[in-house]
Amino acid sequence: MFSVVLAASKLWWYVSRSAGIVSWVLLALAVLWGLALSTRALGKRPAGPWLLDVHRFLGGLSVLFVLVHMLGLFLDDYEPFSLGELLVPYAKDWKAGPVAWGIVAFYVMLAVEGTSLLKAHLPKRFWHGVHLASYALYAFATIHLLTVGTDRQNPLLRWSVIGSIGVVVFFTAYRAIGPGRAASIRVAGKPSVKSGEPKP
Ligand code: HEM
Ligand code: HEM
Repeated sequence: MFSVVLAASKLWWYVSRSAGIVSWVLLALAVLWGLALSTRALGKRPAGPWLLDVHRFLGGLSVLFVLVHMLGLFLDDYEPFSLGELLVPYAKDWKAGPVAWGIVAFYVMLAVEGTSLLKAHLPKRFWHGVHLASYALYAFATIHLLTVGTDRQNPLLRWSVIGSIGVVVFFTAYRAIGPGRAASIRVAGKPSVKSGEPKP
């Protein structure tokens, strides 16, 4: 009985932590999907517009779960955060450094998602320059997870992190110096893939 009451009193704390983990998983998948788009590592199938739709969905959902993560911390009584403490690094003393990585990641995420929603109105070079900050976003969010999270010792989460870092680093190298570099340059020379449009 006591443990049920205790669990209920920490409900928002658990909601926040689970939303943080879901958001991080979605972010890692969005980055991988983005790499599939820019390198065409998967070949001609699946088609570009489908890849882009899934990519946009994963990115948008990750933002949504970060907002739930933050709302949970705001509503929680166990280790509550004020609005200022949620948005300003080092405003709260508790685990200040590890939390700051999350706050910085959140701002980079807003820039990546915001510029993508306005993509049609922005110069392509500018949009892509901001979009490349996704790699920093993934790194900051992963450092945040590994330094702040109560569940960072959990073997399943730890192996998921190690696996995802390995795959992201491999495909980033493939994109930067491997065959994916040639594909990304070819793609950059073509008009951008728009959702629902037939492939050029
Ligand atoms: C949190 C959200 C997002 C993240 C983390 C993310 C991440 C990435 C990454 C890492 C790449 C590969 C970039 C490269 O190496 O050149 C990429 C490519 C791409 N992303 Fe996103 N993205 C997000 C949201 C979006 C949204 C909402 C759109 C909608 C327009 C979008 C459209 C694209 C397109 C078109 C590409 C391919 C760029 C190319 O062909 O070079 N992304 N994304
Ligand atoms: C891209 C943005 C973010 C992502 C992907 C993210 C992800 C995560 C993850 C995966 C955890 C570990 C949960 C656990 O181990 O149970 C976590 C914990 C935490 N995050 Fe974030 N976070 C982000 C932004 C933020 C922001 C803006 C704040 C604002 C203060 C924040 C505060 C915290 C706190 C206090 C914890 C500790 C919870 C615990 O002790 O387990 N995070 N976050």
